Amino acid sequence: MARPAPSFMDTIVSLCKRRGFVFPASEIYGGIGNTYDYGPLGVELLRRVRDCWWSAVVTGRTDVVGLDSAIIQNPKVWETSGHVGGFSDPMVDCKTCKGRFRADKLEDARCPEKPSKQPGECHGELTEPRSFNLMFKTHVGPLEGSAAAAYLRPETAQGIFLNFMNVMNSSRVKPPFGIAQIGKSFRNEITPGNFVFRTREFEQAEMEFFIPPEENDKWFEYWKNERFQWYVDLGVNPDKLRLRDHDADELAHYSTGCTDVEYEYPFGWGELEGIACRTDFDLKRHSEATGTDLLYFDPQTKEKYTPFVIEPAGGINRMALTFLIDAYEEQELEKDTRTVLHFHPRIAPITVAVFPLVKKGGMPERAHEIDAELRLAGFSTFYDQKGAIGRRYRRQDEAGTPFCVTVDGDTLEDGVVTVRHRDSMEQDKVPADELRAFLGEAMHNWTRPASCSA
Ligand code: GAP
Repeated sequence: MARPAPSFMDTIVSLCKRRGFVFPASEIYGGIGNTYDYGPLGVELLRRVRDCWWSAVVTGRTDVVGLDSAIIQNPKVWETSGHVGGFSDPMVDCKTCKGRFRADKLEDARCPEKPSKQPGECHGELTEPRSFNLMFKTHVGPLEGSAAAAYLRPETAQGIFLNFMNVMNSSRVKPPFGIAQIGKSFRNEITPGNFVFRTREFEQAEMEFFIPPEENDKWFEYWKNERFQWYVDLGVNPDKLRLRDHDADELAHYSTGCTDVEYEYPFGWGELEGIACRTDFDLKRHSEATGTDLLYFDPQTKEKYTPFVIEPAGGINRMALTFLIDAYEEQELEKDTRTVLHFHPRIAPITVAVFPLVKKGGMPERAHEIDAELRLAGFSTFYDQKGAIGRRYRRQDEAGTPFCVTVDGDTLEDGVVTVRHRDSMEQDKVPADELRAFLGEAMHNWTRPASCSA
């Protein structure tokens, strides 16, 4: 597959802006470093990623339920969880350029004045590392001051632990079972970057799976495999995915083991999602801090215990970026080059584009009808009658739309439309009244094209 190697990320960033996936936030005010807004295609892409995650982790199973907890919780939550004391990165300042960098990631940082060099390498003197807490602080109510101080959550997971008993009591679940949620988290990252890979405001998809302690290893293996396979099933190139176990010095304060699903990004291998053994750390800490009983009573053994937890935790924005990068191809054709996003049809922002061949002869009216029928049947569609048909195909290729349906003069006679497939560019003639079944089957049978797997 052909990819412009040197500035592939720049190519992705510019495609995202041009086609309305992602825009720089507050752009007309000069932006606000590494913060982004999602446009019409981006918002649909995020929604697809969320839906696919939710159906794989929650609604497609009988042992996981959902939750939507508050972003601002009682600030004591974060003292108990260890985030106030321990959720920090070592930071250094450059005395010359005043740049701030993560001391443990200097090899990835660039000097703002000499981008070919790392901080320190450019003769700027660096300060001693000091600890920088990543939580955003705010205040609640009309009074500012320490009494009203609060934090924006740095992970969604704590809201799940706080509701462990509420969910167990209300939903008739018992270990092994999971509570999942998707929502925004906030981290005052010292060095955000690589487009939407690391930002200060992002969306997490997390699930805490509560288990009897002796089943820790079994469920850890299970969730590592499940989460890896989810990406493969949604079309990500398995050769660019790997599972990497954390070394002991990389583990978070609550974790005894962690494996990342990593992807080979244009800037190197990076964490896409983590699967962590959180043991009984969080439930025990919250129980001790509040005096609340957070034990599970097993009616069979008549014993009470604090469940252990396996946590798959990923970022929706990072997943969307990965699907985008992985789907991108510039294909050399006989006469030109086409840019195409080979999204899995379940991930593609638009599933079907509907075109009249020309803007006359009753074709637009029939195409509008077909478009409306497909929408009613739950397909995400886009109607377009502007420009030559070849150009309309190319625009949809770039948006990652897997199918285009064209109404031509014959359609009005025999009721047959043309379905054009994004990946192969092949066309099928299909009776309009069989279109829904045809597209449903084509979505189901989709496989990653070989050209995109190099
Ligand atoms: N509850 C565990 C936890 O929060 P994490 O590894 O810090 O673990 C989980 O975060 C996932 O959230 C990461 O794998 C990544 O996909 C996403 N994530 C974390 N920080 C992020 C950031 N600054 N920007 C975008 N995504 C981020």
